[in-house]
Amino acid sequence: MFEGFAGVWTALFPLAEVGAAPRALSLAGERLVAFRQPRGEVAVLLDRCPHRGAALSLGRVTGQGRIECPFHGWQFDAQGRNCHVPLNPEARTSRLSAIALATRVIGEMVWVYTGAPSPSLPEPVVAEGLRAPGLARTCLQRNWNVHWTRAMENMLDSPHLPFVHRRTIGKSLARDMTAQSRLDVSWEPTEWGGRTKAVLDGRDGGAFLEFYRPNVMALHLPLPGRHLRIHALVIPAEAGRTRLVICQSRDFLRSRLLDPLFSWMNSRIADEDRAVVESMGSDEVPAARAQASVATDRATLQFRKYYFEALRGSSWQPQHGCDPLGTGRPVAEDLADRTA
Ligand code: FES
Ligand SMILES: [Fe+2]
Repeated sequence: MFEGFAGVWTALFPLAEVGAAPRALSLAGERLVAFRQPRGEVAVLLDRCPHRGAALSLGRVTGQGRIECPFHGWQFDAQGRNCHVPLNPEARTSRLSAIALATRVIGEMVWVYTGAPSPSLPEPVVAEGLRAPGLARTCLQRNWNVHWTRAMENMLDSPHLPFVHRRTIGKSLARDMTAQSRLDVSWEPTEWGGRTKAVLDGRDGGAFLEFYRPNVMALHLPLPGRHLRIHALVIPAEAGRTRLVICQSRDFLRSRLLDPLFSWMNSRIADEDRAVVESMGSDEVPAARAQASVATDRATLQFRKYYFEALRGSSWQPQHGCDPLGTGRPVAEDLADRTA
């Protein structure tokens, strides 16, 4: 499960998108269901009932915050524990659990861990702009038909700015660059990923990018004395489809009335990238040696190195416990023996 994206914390979707009904969505090829608890917390389970595999998201949420499978009515709590098996009073519910993911609400986003939940799990490392109180955040979402690694590289790629974004955030670079210009791209490893800066002809404009493993970019925009950042949360959905959450954070002009304006500006930038990134193919980024690269590719090659060395081969194999008759064996074997 979560092949190529296991054992990491990732943002999943904005909290406001889960209402009273269960919400289905995909993460790295797995179907998940999110549902609210009575006091507003959010639980996330695999959207697959351990009984016969029906989508739990087609069921309902009970008043106690349990999700009820639409097929035979089994109920599961926020930790995936089975709380009720209709018509089977002897069923040992402790052996009939669903698979829950460790979940956190940070800022206005729901985060999940793509591996075994455990009390010793390290907490997610989240960019300041996505978690700090007192900031206004304006977020928008886009679905791109591309492998998430292509979208992530695009977010760390400075030299495309004067071409793809020549009318928006690449305007000054496009204006100032000449045929002899040189862009120096630096990469500084950090505890959580890395920091990259692009300097044109020795003139440092002050902006820089941070990479938060595995899939977040934070663009720090230079505005003296102010906080203004744009984050890209690059979330793998299904094969060849990526859910992008673009989230701008600021400590000024905090009125929600300005959200449409900031959303419009950020969507314009994101939409400028889309056709070019999708044109590269829906499969993962190739190994570095398979393509031609130059000095200004330093940051994207660092991401590629991380992906191939740390993430690509990862997966998680959770176990459903299915032993309702108490024999220590899976129910399918028990019943098969009894009917042989
Ligand atoms: S498939 Fe879910 S209760 Fe049977
Ligand atoms: Fe871009």
